[in-house]
Amino acid sequence: MLSDNLLLDLEQKGIVHVKNFFDSNELEKARKIVKNYSVKKGHDLSYFSTNLKLLIYKVLKLNFKRLSEDIFFLRLAKKKKIDKFSDKHFKKKSFLKFIDAYYSEVSDQDVLPWHTDQAYEGVEKNEKGFVNPDNYHIKFFIYLTDVVPENGCMSYIPYSHKLGYIIRKGIYNNEIKFDKYFLLKEFRNFCKKNKDYLIKQLNDKKVFDKFIEETEFIESNKDTKKFDYSLRAGDAIIFNEGGVHKGSKSTISERMVLRYLYSSKT
Ligand SMILES: [Fe+2]
Repeated sequence: MLSDNLLLDLEQKGIVHVKNFFDSNELEKARKIVKNYSVKKGHDLSYFSTNLKLLIYKVLKLNFKRLSEDIFFLRLAKKKKIDKFSDKHFKKKSFLKFIDAYYSEVSDQDVLPWHTDQAYEGVEKNEKGFVNPDNYHIKFFIYLTDVVPENGCMSYIPYSHKLGYIIRKGIYNNEIKFDKYFLLKEFRNFCKKNKDYLIKQLNDKKVFDKFIEETEFIESNKDTKKFDYSLRAGDAIIFNEGGVHKGSKSTISERMVLRYLYSSKT
């Protein structure tokens, strides 16, 4: 199911959509587990075991119900060859950093606006130094409920991960000066300020121009639905976290998702 064509697309666009990633039985079981806890993102119970050590811990705690759920999600990853796909993407052994699954109730509260997850913050320079730009994450996002614009869907600006990578590389190698670029407006300004460097490094003016053109909306504090990913329950998206993206609030119906995060580094 996770074909090599998808690998190429992920590398180029930074995001791919996989229809019917889970069959109805897998979907039903995953939904049952997540619904049973109904915990929000970040809650302790939203995290599932990623390795043997954590599974043994569940045994020692005699928490067999949770153990079987952990094994279910781990087996799903194996069955769907998520780990193999991730290894192929990073072109080396990659590492499962977390599995989480959570529930979002209907809400009109804003979620994170357009941003990039891998942005440097600036303070690292005085501490451990900037993270190597080649150490990054890809996320497998499996939807357990339908999502549409303004109701829990994810939006992603294709190709923006390429700019994100060059920015990190440039700062890391001291070739461009650090400035904040976490939010889209900052990211866009940063790109415009370092235009020549980015185009030279990208070796592709089109990617740069397209990004500037397509993100014009943010300058007038507007938004767009152009990059929204409407998905059915059981569908998945896989994306490079270095690209610019945002989540939307669930204004109509509850939302449940399952996520696997893989990294190039332990
Ligand atoms: Fe994010």
